Amino acid sequence: MTDAPRIAVPPPGPRSRELLGRAEGMFYPGTAHGLAPFVVARKDGYTITDVDGNVYLDLISASASVPLGAGREDIAAPAVEALRRYGNEDSHTMASEPMIALAERLLAIVPEGLTRVDLALNGTEAVETAIKMMRRATGRPVVIGFFSQYHGESTTTATLGAEQSDISRGMRTFAPGFAHVPYPHPYRSPLGPTRAGGSGDATVDYIRDHLLFHALHPGDVAGVIVEPIVGSGGVLVPPDSFWPALEELCREHDWLLCADEVKTGFGRTGRMFAVEHWGVRPDLMCLGKGMGGGVMPIGAVVGTERAMGFDDVPTGSTWAWLPAACAAALRTIEIFAEEDVLGNVRALERVAVEELRRIAERHEQVGDVRVRGCYQAIEFVRDRETRERHPELQERVAREALARGVLADSSTTSYNIQPSLVMPPDDLRRGLGIVGEAVDAAVAELARWPVAATS
Ligand SMILES: Cc1ncc(COP(=O)(O)O)c(C=O)c1O
Repeated sequence: MTDAPRIAVPPPGPRSRELLGRAEGMFYPGTAHGLAPFVVARKDGYTITDVDGNVYLDLISASASVPLGAGREDIAAPAVEALRRYGNEDSHTMASEPMIALAERLLAIVPEGLTRVDLALNGTEAVETAIKMMRRATGRPVVIGFFSQYHGESTTTATLGAEQSDISRGMRTFAPGFAHVPYPHPYRSPLGPTRAGGSGDATVDYIRDHLLFHALHPGDVAGVIVEPIVGSGGVLVPPDSFWPALEELCREHDWLLCADEVKTGFGRTGRMFAVEHWGVRPDLMCLGKGMGGGVMPIGAVVGTERAMGFDDVPTGSTWAWLPAACAAALRTIEIFAEEDVLGNVRALERVAVEELRRIAERHEQVGDVRVRGCYQAIEFVRDRETRERHPELQERVAREALARGVLADSSTTSYNIQPSLVMPPDDLRRGLGIVGEAVDAAVAELARWPVAATS
């Protein structure tokens, strides 16, 4: 248990203000404008202390890349030892023991049939590689993605992604070969109910009856890339009917099924990998974020022999799988085996369900709350009937929560809460209680000053 949050001076305090002022003049404005209104002095477990002495409860976990607490000594120590021993080695040209050991451990824990692994520096690079593998393995150009999904910011991954259109603005023509269909969205699906005589799933019916009938020949399709539970786009859990229907569709047309587990992987949803919730067996899986234990950057693509059993696709980059990152990832996998991390994730899920439901009961403006493990989201609406989005309220809630010392991710279409997987449940309860106070305050404020509050 921690006594965070503790706010000594309203952020930004004087030291943060001074440093952020310097940053503003130097960094690319798109980056500078996205920064939190304080400067980090240190992180401990799941708290962040700023340079003015404020202590925040961290419910972002560095975009879900820090699963087991910040800078954990038992992960950092083997990484430091490997850094001293090897520095960097380009793992594409020279193997080290940590690299071999990590590949073995990783292939032992991923779903059956995934027998090959390739090196990536991060999630973006893993998705880039997966796309290349899919096209090479099938000889087909088109990859199907889903609305609401996020895959990265490079030209290719931003264009595969379809979370919000401004992410790929100006880029679509430079990365052709993607088609998009609605995600099986539990709250905002534009599709009707499953039709009689169909696949048993409305999304897969849409692909079959509409996309493939009218616009895209299945023989041009390499496969689909799917976030098994959408993360940044708002914790979207597909219905059970989706997976067997999608797997059948892929089988029928010889498509590859690639799961982007960059954010869901390594325990975030209560299973080591989210596909395990349904026993899905993908042909490819992309990994990143939590794989490095919050200490080192590392990603991976794992695949079947069909998807990756060739040697003529150039992949990766110089720092991918530097030995120290392999050492950190190895230790991270061991910790999942030694400690009941996933049990704690399920306890945190129960707390979140209770607390977010309480907030939803109090406010009409909470359209939906969604929880799966340490993937938690609140979606704000102007009206429950029309479900019109309410970004101003979300922004106001984020500000009110931050002023009270609680940090969550408000950069997307919902207010996303991503606690550390090892946070004690009582700390999450306290944090979500404060989020509730922030919602109360934001709703009251918007009711008083509906126009001024949006500016
Ligand atoms: C599902 C998913 N895929 C890929 C990425 C890209 O990963 P990274 O930004 O770590 O390179 C992200 C990042 O948020 C993600 O959520």
